[in-house]
Amino acid sequence: MKVFLIGSNGQVGKHIAKLLQESDIHELTAMVRSKEQAEQLQQSGINAVVANLEGSVDDLAEAMKGTDTVIFTAGSGGKTGPDKTLLVDLDGAVKSMEAAEKVGANRYVMVSAFKAYDRESWKDSPIKPYMVAKHYADRMLVESNLNYTIFGPGLLLNEPGTGKVAVEEKFDKTSIPREDVARAVVASLDEEKTYKKTIGLMSGEISVEEALKSVN
Ligand SMILES: NC(=O)c1ccc[n+]([C@@H]2O[C@H](COP(=O)([O-])OP(=O)(O)OC[C@H]3O[C@@H](n4cnc5c(N)ncnc54)[C@H](OP(=O)(O)O)[C@@H]3O)[C@@H](O)[C@H]2O)c1
Repeated sequence: MKVFLIGSNGQVGKHIAKLLQESDIHELTAMVRSKEQAEQLQQSGINAVVANLEGSVDDLAEAMKGTDTVIFTAGSGGKTGPDKTLLVDLDGAVKSMEAAEKVGANRYVMVSAFKAYDRESWKDSPIKPYMVAKHYADRMLVESNLNYTIFGPGLLLNEPGTGKVAVEEKFDKTSIPREDVARAVVASLDEEKTYKKTIGLMSGEISVEEALKSVN
């Protein structure tokens, strides 16, 4: 599977890139937004391209040519304003979906946020504009022709992953290490149980592979 990773220089993205580089069945193209980042990845043997989610759909499609699967784990981050939330988390994400459809990529895996689909759950949240952006990006993905999986992780942690997660809505924990999100994303790529599903994701007690197989 030819996988195009958007957000390769991010914290989750770096874990995903490493797992895909080690994989025998996936071929990675890592999208980054600077030449320096691309050179760094190329030095470690990763095929990298420079593109920007604020650019055009055509430019994104050009970067994606030959791709079967797109993973989106980019984000404007907490240090930018609502303009970037709109331009990256919403419009950038939607443009990448349009580009994916344009190049005939069928599969699209989105790193979203916990319960982005449920307005009631974030109606009083201090990060409501971000949640709105994730909500509508996810809705556009669900309405697209792409074979999607949307992961809704809780608070992302930098501690080492355990490889154990929970995917039911009755969670004991409200957070998950970024490394485990990356494992779930990579394991989902050809796990049919995750196709066309939106999946809450937290730290838990069962292996990523088993958890994904249990998705209804
Ligand atoms: N923080 C949380 O607790 C939390 C919870 C749930 C979900 N999420 C979501 O999880 C995902 C991964 O989070 P993370 O912590 O790995 O994020 P991160 O470390 O901030 O990485 C985000 C990446 O997006 C890239 N990016 C930003 N603007 C871009 C643009 N215009 N074009 C292309 N790339 C762009 C950044 O590029 P540079 O490296 O060049 O800056 C960065 O590499 C994000 O979608 C985030 O919204 C986060």
